[in-house]
Amino acid sequence: MRKIRVGLLCGGRSAEHEVSLQSAKNVIDAIDRDKYEVVLIGIDRSGRWSLGDSAEFLLNAHDPKLIALNKMSEGISLAPGTMSNQLISQSTHLPTGAIDVIFPILHGPFGEDGTIQGLAKLANIPFVGAGVLGSAVAMDKDVMKRLLREAGIPTPDFVTFNRSQKEQIHFEEIRERLGMPCFIKPANLGSSIGITRAKDLTQFEAGIKEAFLHDRKILVETNIQGREIECAVLGNSNPMASALGEVLPSHEFYSYEAKYIDENGATLIIPAELPDDLTTRMRALAVETYQVLDCEGMARVDFFLRGEREVLVNEINTIPGFTKISMYPKLWEASGISYEELIDRLIQLALERFEEEQELET
Ligand SMILES: Nc1ncnc2c1ncn2[C@@H]1O[C@H](COP(=O)(O)OP(=O)(O)O)[C@@H](O)[C@H]1O
Ligand SMILES: [Mg+2]
Repeated sequence: MRKIRVGLLCGGRSAEHEVSLQSAKNVIDAIDRDKYEVVLIGIDRSGRWSLGDSAEFLLNAHDPKLIALNKMSEGISLAPGTMSNQLISQSTHLPTGAIDVIFPILHGPFGEDGTIQGLAKLANIPFVGAGVLGSAVAMDKDVMKRLLREAGIPTPDFVTFNRSQKEQIHFEEIRERLGMPCFIKPANLGSSIGITRAKDLTQFEAGIKEAFLHDRKILVETNIQGREIECAVLGNSNPMASALGEVLPSHEFYSYEAKYIDENGATLIIPAELPDDLTTRMRALAVETYQVLDCEGMARVDFFLRGEREVLVNEINTIPGFTKISMYPKLWEASGISYEELIDRLIQLALERFEEEQELET
């Protein structure tokens, strides 16, 4: 049988470039080579696509701070349309091959936010993970939280400001509405980049400034004192929920440093120690959240648990961290699905959705 050619997209323009490279390395190491052939596509910080050699595509692979794409070879683009050789060499302008499915391991804007998904759709190539809408909605914390609220799914109270509304951000008003400390976040990012926790006016003003460096829209959120519980979801129309995991950050919160730089920045506890009935309720809520936000393929739903039983949805990640030691794969491992099998299932889900879409009348 001919192998399925998987276009693995990694790197990317977002601030989560390095995280993506680490995930891609793990996927390359684990993917079933009897069934799949990896076509590695590295995206540099300027957004340029190049074909890479999956054996030596990384520099400093073991240092999360210095990890980088190796010098890539051929610049390529993806051509729209329904022909079968969608990868075009930028130097010769000739087709350089076909890919059967795209596996985007790109976090944040230009990867997780619907843009790559739109490009894959235009090129008529199946792709792993949420579609254009689900990706975009899940990326934008403001829209995501409004949809959750509309569905009656609890999420921390928040206010949103656009760049043009800067003059309307008043510390005292926000303190009255949300209390202090509060969290200040760019609407569209991830990995805690640009997120700060503010206790007083000085920190608040610095936080607003910081968040606006990363996005034109920001959120100020009420602080939830509680536990951080996560659930992995997998599937298209009948998604399933994994065991639950708990994140115990050793920093003030689950910051970028705690996530990726400090080896002891956080402890993951799988399965989370919770009463059975609460676990059942949270797993059901994870699936509901997934469906409300129009997700497919995979996503990780992150909760806050306040007190003994109050559950709030913090956010959903449509391309969660995917290294072997990341929460998403570990949750599936604890639920009986190995890393290798998870990759296989995700690709199959992508192909299934594509086939269903092809059957639709246009
Ligand atoms: N409202 C909040 N209350 C308490 N902690 C929060 C709140 N919002 C975010 N945090 C902390 O900041 C981390 C990152 O915030 P999150 O909204 O998940 O952004 P990202 O998409 O960057 O992961 C969370 O894991 C949590 O530790
Ligand atoms: Mg998060």
